[in-house]
Amino acid sequence: MTSAPMTLPAALYRNDPDQWAKERNAIFARSWQLFGHESAVREPGQWRAETIAGYPLLVVRGQDGVLRGFHNVCRHRAGPLTDSEQGRCDGLLVCRYHGWAYTLDGRLRAARDFGPSTDFDPRDYGLIPVQTAHWRGLIFVAISPEVAPFVDWVAPLDRRLEGRDWGRLEVRLVRHHPMDCNWKTYVENYLEGYHVPSIHPSLDAEIDASRYSVTMDGLVAIHEAPLRQENPVYEGLWAWLWPNTGFNIYGLGLMMERMGPIGPGRTRLDYIYLMPEGVEVSPETLVLSDAVTSEDVEIVQAVQANLDAGVYDVGRLSLRHEGAVAAFQGFVRQALEG
Ligand code: FES
Ligand SMILES: [Fe+2]
Repeated sequence: MTSAPMTLPAALYRNDPDQWAKERNAIFARSWQLFGHESAVREPGQWRAETIAGYPLLVVRGQDGVLRGFHNVCRHRAGPLTDSEQGRCDGLLVCRYHGWAYTLDGRLRAARDFGPSTDFDPRDYGLIPVQTAHWRGLIFVAISPEVAPFVDWVAPLDRRLEGRDWGRLEVRLVRHHPMDCNWKTYVENYLEGYHVPSIHPSLDAEIDASRYSVTMDGLVAIHEAPLRQENPVYEGLWAWLWPNTGFNIYGLGLMMERMGPIGPGRTRLDYIYLMPEGVEVSPETLVLSDAVTSEDVEIVQAVQANLDAGVYDVGRLSLRHEGAVAAFQGFVRQALEG
């Protein structure tokens, strides 16, 4: 028997701009982040914009068919290149502020009406690239060039999903759930089934929570919980990828979950429901999903208020139920120590 791990200190979960700045750099810029589904960028010239952990990003399909990612930040005076979530252009991305124009591979084509300058070379002012990966119809991005290839990160999950073709799923529905909590408070809740019997009566009726298991494999956590009886909504399989992506696997489709920090004390869950052609998200799926989400949001906000109250510092993690929480906290520690 080994001893139950200590939790991270509560100070790391508080609404602290310095901690947030550290985590944006050490965790979110150095990990693969779910960007979205490929359907918005299938054709050359199509682009999609998304802000992830405070980084405004843009993914665009080039004239050559290659998908590329950039910071959605102009090299002139930091204007935004786009003003909406997605769209299509004719081969140039034009900054909204003063009209600098970039080719879809990120080169500065023209600095509109800039006038003479002896030492201004447009070749030095291309868009700042980010890594992109395409996996089973989904797009992931990594800001730092040092992040290892996505296929390595996701390999443990790929092994579990062999034979499952998600490439043809379509986005059926997108929902957002804002929460007043630090992103880690929510992620830790996602990483254990210990709270299921007390917090989720409807889910507890569907799965055998006493046999809920969470197994870490590299940067992936695999959740498995046997169903009490066959269920059209759940398959009893969920997965998570460090630091903040959830894969909620349904019988027919999938719900991708981005546990997206929008500041130190605020987090937004983005749910992307993906289904095969012609299949809707069933009303019972949404009822159960909404019930479980609101139960989770309620408890994590209450936990956050208690972490903020300043009484609690560190606790202990159950080896039986909270191994993935301990692994997550280890990854956080490691990332922050750099
Ligand atoms: S900030 Fe983009 S053109 Fe000026
Ligand atoms: Fe939960």
